[in-house]
Amino acid sequence: MCGIVGYIGTQTADEILLAGLEKLEYRGYDSAGIATVADGQLHCIRAKGKLHNLRSKMEAAKTGAYLGIGHTRWATHGKPEEHNAHPHLDTHGRIAVVQNGIIENYRELREELQQKGHEFRSDTDTEVIPHLIAEYLSDSLQEAVRQTVDRLQGAFAIAVVCADFPDELIVARQQAPLSIGFGQGEFFCASDTPAIVPHTRAVLSLDNGEMAKLTPLGVEVYNFEGDRLKKYPRTLNWNPILVEKQGFKHFMLKEIYEQPGVVRASLETYANVNWQPDDTDTMPIHLGIPDAVLNDLEHIHILACGTSWHASLVGKYLIEQLAGIPTMVQYASEFRYAPSPLTANTLTIGVTQSGETADTLAALSAERQRRSHLADNLKPRLLGITNRPESSLGQLVPNIIDTCAGIEIGVAATKTFVAQLMAFYFLALDLAYRRQTLLTSKIQEILTDLRQLPAQIELILESQERYIEELAHEFGETKDFIFVGRGLNFPVALEGALKLKEISYIHAEGYPAGELKHGPIALLDSKVPVVSIALPGNTYEKVISNAQEAKARDSRLIGVVSLNDEEAAHTFDNLLPVPEVNEWLSPIVAVIPLQLLAYHIAARRGLDVDQPRNLAKSVTVE
Ligand code: G6P
Repeated sequence: MCGIVGYIGTQTADEILLAGLEKLEYRGYDSAGIATVADGQLHCIRAKGKLHNLRSKMEAAKTGAYLGIGHTRWATHGKPEEHNAHPHLDTHGRIAVVQNGIIENYRELREELQQKGHEFRSDTDTEVIPHLIAEYLSDSLQEAVRQTVDRLQGAFAIAVVCADFPDELIVARQQAPLSIGFGQGEFFCASDTPAIVPHTRAVLSLDNGEMAKLTPLGVEVYNFEGDRLKKYPRTLNWNPILVEKQGFKHFMLKEIYEQPGVVRASLETYANVNWQPDDTDTMPIHLGIPDAVLNDLEHIHILACGTSWHASLVGKYLIEQLAGIPTMVQYASEFRYAPSPLTANTLTIGVTQSGETADTLAALSAERQRRSHLADNLKPRLLGITNRPESSLGQLVPNIIDTCAGIEIGVAATKTFVAQLMAFYFLALDLAYRRQTLLTSKIQEILTDLRQLPAQIELILESQERYIEELAHEFGETKDFIFVGRGLNFPVALEGALKLKEISYIHAEGYPAGELKHGPIALLDSKVPVVSIALPGNTYEKVISNAQEAKARDSRLIGVVSLNDEEAAHTFDNLLPVPEVNEWLSPIVAVIPLQLLAYHIAARRGLDVDQPRNLAKSVTVE
């Protein structure tokens, strides 16, 4: 979504703000702007389009200011035009505001302010904020911002500077993330930590209903009632190198290549290497979640969006088939308005790579709220699965499985999907062990096979990338793709189609292979390739039959098949072979060639793989 940065200190703000925005551009990128305060004046520069447009404009207009705020936008209210780009100013151009979120009551506020003579210049909801601050401003900027946030409804994070307060940067948070970085005589704010970690790892995340005053001397945190709070920064333990491309052409490709390491890290964190099937003293999996959360479960509800929703569908399959617990997966954006009936002893899991998706957070909050006053067996049991435990999700739910994937910059999720799948393997095996739904020897077998995965993913990357890059050339004109899979690999077909749509803008759909004949087959002809996941297992024969049905309609057939499948060449026009794995683990090896296919088709078309049009890495509005 949008990105906010702010700086106050002893260095020139322009370059720090631009560099910060570059780190946040993956979250939203249709326009950008910066406002700085120098020589008693506010200087504001904005540009439509990618950040390099703003950078070029700024070359000619450096101010040498030590204080400023910046923003990269993903349009919600008002088209992506320069006049709608942030920062927004008050009528006299003395106050500048950047905002992330949505001000729901902006229409009433705008009318009220227009009647008082305020001149509006954009179509955005944000512009009411500088005008309201101007309305309340007398001798304290902080107090004017406090009175302003009191009037705002919705989810927002804001940063404010004013030409009349050259030593103050005010920030406030309500349901949208905002962190403060503590340097030596300089302070930073940002909606996401990648903009801060190149300067300092001492970071304080504001909670909802909190605001802060940053000055060259320090940071004071207050609640919206104006009471001073005692809060201290913590040290982030991640490496700024994670947010560099390290020689790869795109973050997406780098993140695809990080997957063996991510799988290794999650195995090291959660799988107990010393456990043996006859060992009753220790558990095979250590998730660090209290027994009261995981024991005696009767139902599991999973809430997620996008790629995380696909991972959750695999999770449902694993939990139901391995641990025997009825599991429901719902789009978080639907759950809040049509919640599932209340069931007893239910674990609700929110899955979100960013930990900031507004739909998922809102659904989890609604679930917590509706259950909190009920009897013990109906009380909320909440768990989050994320690679960003420091996110808003981490503050909302008491239990987190950190997927060990680190930050992901490419908008199209790759390593975080695989990492979420790993979390579901561990959860399903842990529950199966507790409930004795699997023989301990079977649990050990799956754990042994999981340990083979990093090397198997490396093999796919080494052996397949060049071939897939070549193959991608052949789809320069293709307008539609169909992906099919069955059982555990139906969600992988959905994910393969989503990856292609997101970054290549080719229309693509995923179906359960058996459903092809019930409608989608009408779309097939020689111009519509079908990608089929046909890996060994109990649906293999059926998937091959479904592929033959597509072949009979002249579709070009691409098969994700096992390296040992000697028959596959008779069915498929192109083969994407992967090592033969335990059927339960097939989604992890199946998705790798699909990620590479989407990547190379988009890269071949010369598209902006890491920042595809209209998308944002995390969507912090509902
Ligand atoms: C956005 C992204 C998708 C992502 C979805 C859910 O729409 O573009 O790639 O899958 O949000 O994100 P989350 O952070 O909740 O996993």
